[in-house]
Amino acid sequence: MKKFFIQTFGCQMNVYDGQRISNMLKVNGWTQIDNSNDADLIILNTCAVREKATNKVFSALGRIRDSKKPDALFGIVGCVAREAGADAFKRIPELNFVLGPQSYHKLPEILENPDSKLLNIDLGGLEKFDEMPQMVESPLVSYIPIQEGCNHCCTYCIVPYTRGREISRPFDDVMRDVHHAADTGAFEICFLGQNVNGYHFENYMLSDLIRETAAINAVKRIRFTSSYPTEMTDDLIKMFGNQPKLLPFLNLPIQSGSINVLTRMNRPYSLNLYIDIIDKLRAIRPDIQISSDFIVGFPGETDSDFEQTMNIARQVKYINSYSFKYSPRPHTAAALMKDQIPDNIKRERLKMLDGYLNDIQREFNESCIGKTFECLCEGPDKTGKHLLFRTPYMQQCIVEKPSFGKIPNLVNIEITAANKSSLRGKIKN
Ligand code: SAH
Ligand code: F3S
Repeated sequence: MKKFFIQTFGCQMNVYDGQRISNMLKVNGWTQIDNSNDADLIILNTCAVREKATNKVFSALGRIRDSKKPDALFGIVGCVAREAGADAFKRIPELNFVLGPQSYHKLPEILENPDSKLLNIDLGGLEKFDEMPQMVESPLVSYIPIQEGCNHCCTYCIVPYTRGREISRPFDDVMRDVHHAADTGAFEICFLGQNVNGYHFENYMLSDLIRETAAINAVKRIRFTSSYPTEMTDDLIKMFGNQPKLLPFLNLPIQSGSINVLTRMNRPYSLNLYIDIIDKLRAIRPDIQISSDFIVGFPGETDSDFEQTMNIARQVKYINSYSFKYSPRPHTAAALMKDQIPDNIKRERLKMLDGYLNDIQREFNESCIGKTFECLCEGPDKTGKHLLFRTPYMQQCIVEKPSFGKIPNLVNIEITAANKSSLRGKIKN
């Protein structure tokens, strides 16, 4: 029996890509193992969004080269493959394959021809969705890509280069995947896209996908990520009021609270428009919570620009947010801008913003004590003594494992304690 090892870095789209690759290999008789040393095929499924992520991949490749079985095939798929292209072979000559995020369905070519080198970083659009075999069994939370690529072209972002221009999948194809996921074990559907709320196929929008998915009995929870502010149309906002299965949690990245920085980022929306969307969402769904991504230290960011980012964070009171130091990336306009910010200033700003975001996260978590949420069971923790659940706000909730009886996948949990990163709770009968 041939054994493969796959390690996934980065976003949920990568997690999905990794699941499709594993599924394809398993359908073809391979067994998945969690140790690269014993594998006959080693795949790193990679992220290029920040320099650190790319470096991590190359150091992992160096380690694997020195420890793998001599005749094991190894290579990279995903965004670093597309970013580095043929250079990847120069850096690690022993690599067997380099396949971009839209060409990993070509993997069987290297399995048939193990003595060759395979490089394919084409932007094949939707080809991969049709070429990969259907998932045999779906995870409880099933990610379903509905569009790929991005036309927004934020000046810092490598994604429009690695994943190409925006393209929406046909409505019927997406719904076929949703039904298949629901029929094979999914409780929660998470629609994915680099610009997910920009989905449009013929006259269909994301709101149509949500409506149709909510009508499926087996699907209990629906969410989507990642959204772009100006694509948050009224029909989509209304869904939060009409569709109880749509979770009361939305990731709506603002990146910066300064209009000057937003302009240089090529994110042309006003703060008023952004706040207006959040006000509308809160009016229609009072329990909704918002998260954001932030970049600090973008070229030219002044102290006062950064203060405006702190202000927007104070005003919106985001939960579960991500903040990053700006990282110059190849193939992007911002990497060439003057006024790059020194690392010590980036670090200081990140510390301040993170400190605040952590404080509000803790406050929010503490405000949940005494409340009851319907939570999705993700299985036991490492000790086997506890069960891990996910609340509707994506907080992790740890519950003592009952000594008997089978726990349903979706269950009411009363929150009994909280800290910054997780909650504790008990099952309510
Ligand atoms: N909408 C996209 C976002 C991709 S990148 C998606 O979901 O696929 C995820 C986050 O990384 C961005 O929202 C941004 O905050 C951050 N990011 C992107 N490029 C970056 C860079 N060059 N430096 C630092 N952070 C970056
Ligand atoms: Fe990147 Fe901006 Fe699109 S962050 S994925 S270019 S919306």
